[in-house]
Amino acid sequence: MTFTLNRRAALAALGAAAAGVAGFSHAAPPDQAWRSSYTPHNGPLKAALDSGPLRVKGRWPAALQGTLYRVGPARRELGGVSMNHWFDGDGMLQAFRFEGGKVSHRGALLATPKQQAEEAAGRLLYSGFAQVLPDAPPLMGPDTLNPANINLLSLPARRELFALWEAGSALAVDPDSLQAKGFKVWSPDTKGAPFSAHPRVAPDGSVWSFGYMPGTGSLLLYEISPAGQLRRQQVIAAPQADMVHDFAITEKHLVFLLMPLLFSGAPGNSDRLSHYRWEGQSPLVVLLVDKADFKLQRFELPATGVFHLANAWEQGGTVQVRFVAQPDILGAMRKMQVDQPRQTGYAQQPRWTQMTLNPATGQAQMQALDASGVEFPRIHPARNGLPTQFTTLVARSRGMDTRVEGFDSVLTLHGDRQQRHGYGDGWIAEEHVYVPASRTAPEGRGWVLGTAYHWPSERTALSVFDAAAVNAGPVARVMLPYGLPLGLHGQFVAA
Ligand SMILES: [Fe+2]
Repeated sequence: MTFTLNRRAALAALGAAAAGVAGFSHAAPPDQAWRSSYTPHNGPLKAALDSGPLRVKGRWPAALQGTLYRVGPARRELGGVSMNHWFDGDGMLQAFRFEGGKVSHRGALLATPKQQAEEAAGRLLYSGFAQVLPDAPPLMGPDTLNPANINLLSLPARRELFALWEAGSALAVDPDSLQAKGFKVWSPDTKGAPFSAHPRVAPDGSVWSFGYMPGTGSLLLYEISPAGQLRRQQVIAAPQADMVHDFAITEKHLVFLLMPLLFSGAPGNSDRLSHYRWEGQSPLVVLLVDKADFKLQRFELPATGVFHLANAWEQGGTVQVRFVAQPDILGAMRKMQVDQPRQTGYAQQPRWTQMTLNPATGQAQMQALDASGVEFPRIHPARNGLPTQFTTLVARSRGMDTRVEGFDSVLTLHGDRQQRHGYGDGWIAEEHVYVPASRTAPEGRGWVLGTAYHWPSERTALSVFDAAAVNAGPVARVMLPYGLPLGLHGQFVAA
């Protein structure tokens, strides 16, 4: 283990590294409706929600039993103080439970130290990713600011659930009560160190993760056993690893796409977003890390932005990577202001992209594929690092109101075959997950499950599709009696 006390001190000094997230810069229907895209409805945000049994329209698949957990930034206003960037909201956990044909929803604001300190003070206290609050209290480390608002990690063998940020620790959460149980410490040396919002669970249940620390030129790697025990942890040298939101694994490698989005030190109490710059003349550095010994191989490709990778795998001596390329990632993040309704849709569309790395020759290639305006790729959860043909994404239709940011459709790719369901006017589609019929089911069997926000009625719906027939529309849908703040990622945990 090479993570030293000095590095920890450096980390603490960095405060909250950037919470780079989510490929969507969404906002805003015309007039006032834009604001409701981000805020809860019918009054101020409630710290707890409980729908009771919901009326199911259509037929809920009998075999689809379990819980869809989702998380996202929710509370960004307290005591007359508000944060105006979408990333800067306290995490709220949503749980949609399916049991015996009954569907219900509960939500809970996550009681992090930040949330509790601000609750006690009666107002927001801490500066965020994109906004400075004057007289913010001193930081004890990144977790002082940790809102646990990006993604979830489930370790079903131990019935453990974690809510993840990416600039601090994983927050343990009770999967039944939804109550926060405190930050996870994987090892005493790395208490409070960044843990990614996109860990990857290998087919054998091992968990791979990383943490990035802007300005340090390094990444912290984690290998965790299926039982949740830390196996290995190591710092590796990684150029321009200043915002690394996601990565991929194969049977032999870890794959990092390190974009030229560079962070120059933001001292003291300052925002992070304005200290990032795009260096488009620099390459996209691809780092291939050997899982066995953490040896590195570096590839270079033309600059491109990336939030999310779908998957990677070994194939005929090459490494195949599928990801969503973001042509203007910094512009996308700058547009995620909840107080600015002036939106004009995507200037450039995020694109489904294929990458081939050849470790023997050192060559790398990248090619745009036939799907654009997409984000939030999801695959068969038991096929991380194995070849995949089936991916679920959300997509933006050509006809979507240009004043509304985000997505209005769900898209499945199965080899060359695309299927799409458009939610229609007034809807914003959130991430949709693929729930295979079973762990060993062939790809494309099972269900696609996702939420969408209907801004005219200010309510959130959950839809389930036959994964093989998304074109046919949802087989069942429930409409919540309230709207949820737009969230980020979700994980399905089978009953
Ligand atoms: Fe993400």
